[in-house]
Amino acid sequence: MAEAQDKPDAAQEDKPVKKRKNGLYPAVSEELAAVMKSGWADTERHGLDPIKQAPYAAARRAALSARFPGERIVVPAGNLRTRSNDTEYPFRASSEYVHLTGDQTQDAVLVLEPLAEGGHQATTYLLPRSDRNSGEFWLDGQGELWVGRRNSLAEGEQLLGLPCKDVRKVADELREAAGPVRVVRGHDAGVEAALTDKVTAERDAELKVFLSELRLVKDEYEVGELQRACDSTARGFEDVVKVLDKAEATSERWIEGTFFLRARVEGNDVGYGSICAAGPHATTLHWVRNDGPVRSGELLLLDAGVETTTLYTADVTRTLPVNGRFSPLQRKVYDAVYDAQQAGIEAVKPGAAYRDFHEAAQRVLAERLVAWGLLDGPVERVLELALQRRWTLHGTGHMLGLDVHDCAQARTEAYVDCTLEPGMVLTVEPGLYFQPDDLTVPAEYRGVGVRIEDDILVTDGGARNLSAGLPRQADEVEAWMAALRG
Ligand code: GLY
Ligand code: MN
Ligand code: MN
Repeated sequence: MAEAQDKPDAAQEDKPVKKRKNGLYPAVSEELAAVMKSGWADTERHGLDPIKQAPYAAARRAALSARFPGERIVVPAGNLRTRSNDTEYPFRASSEYVHLTGDQTQDAVLVLEPLAEGGHQATTYLLPRSDRNSGEFWLDGQGELWVGRRNSLAEGEQLLGLPCKDVRKVADELREAAGPVRVVRGHDAGVEAALTDKVTAERDAELKVFLSELRLVKDEYEVGELQRACDSTARGFEDVVKVLDKAEATSERWIEGTFFLRARVEGNDVGYGSICAAGPHATTLHWVRNDGPVRSGELLLLDAGVETTTLYTADVTRTLPVNGRFSPLQRKVYDAVYDAQQAGIEAVKPGAAYRDFHEAAQRVLAERLVAWGLLDGPVERVLELALQRRWTLHGTGHMLGLDVHDCAQARTEAYVDCTLEPGMVLTVEPGLYFQPDDLTVPAEYRGVGVRIEDDILVTDGGARNLSAGLPRQADEVEAWMAALRG
């Protein structure tokens, strides 16, 4: 890759060089600088339709405005993060900013300014088109010649449906602003530095909690995006099944790479690091090294989700026999997890307690562990002491949306102690994991890990499985694999 920021040529050090954020523009001849300023077509776009999210984002901003009357609210999209030297990680805008604007521009900042007459004026601060006169567009590492054309501020206004201003002014404006301010922390150190004298950690945390809870119930646009995420994810799982022979010849990485291809072609990325856990790795809950062997006769636990271009993610797990057929022991464990998941899914409906699906699934698993002689009954005692957790390990699900573990700052009473409402989307994902070194179970169980995870929308009448495009029941999994592998 070429370098955007060559050191100034010694012979040209007397030439004017412009200060920029990370150093200097390289020195160039005045003749070249003059030539580069002109001869460019006007590419300004007019009459753009607003993005589909615009009216939904406006409704969310209205709720935010109502919750914090008279206060300035600052929501940064975040900045690029260094990977090493002058290379960066791919940018992913903060979920709070995306939810409130539908936009994903790096360095952007949404500001809700309180109005004297009540309510707020929302403005998005964006980096405008690169300046051609100063040479920024071709001399700056973030100039459009290097990283691609940006929307002009006028284009941004049409697309987002709210005023757009130059983000290079935002820090000064915030420093000068009077009155109470809250900022979403953790995304933009520069914006936070401009506000250090005006904000408190406690008040900013309240803002984060509110924005987290604002995402608990999804609107129709979000449900559509989550369905698209699940549909792409189903195609990604099919891709994986078709190349299991390649994975056997190489490693779990072939599975990770295969799913990633689908995620990048149809979406933005994977919504979290794919867990491609073959054999005993399936008992490691977040196995993301994905560097182990894939062997016939073992299980593959694949926990992966496509994140859409609008940043909504699926979170799906299937546990598949690498050779297409479950062994009797694998099937016994799989069926127990399947039955637990089925009980959990049946407990998802409007009016049910959030905790119900977890308890329903745990009961089935505890019953099975007692029936197999791995735990002494009665089941009620096992559940009371949570003894099944040696092998069930984790909670049975979580909210899903822009973040895989969505709404994570919501208060306990709004989330784990809540009553389910139509529009909530949550995972139901029980599992059983027998560690390879677990001496408390017979040898044949050791190294077997099974999780089944689906994404469930609470509807007016009950629930809808958004990831039903992938089979769950053992016979259906085997038939599906056989059909895909010809
Ligand atoms: N993929 C992480 C989880 O299932 O929660
Ligand atoms: Mn999950
Ligand atoms: Mn998962």
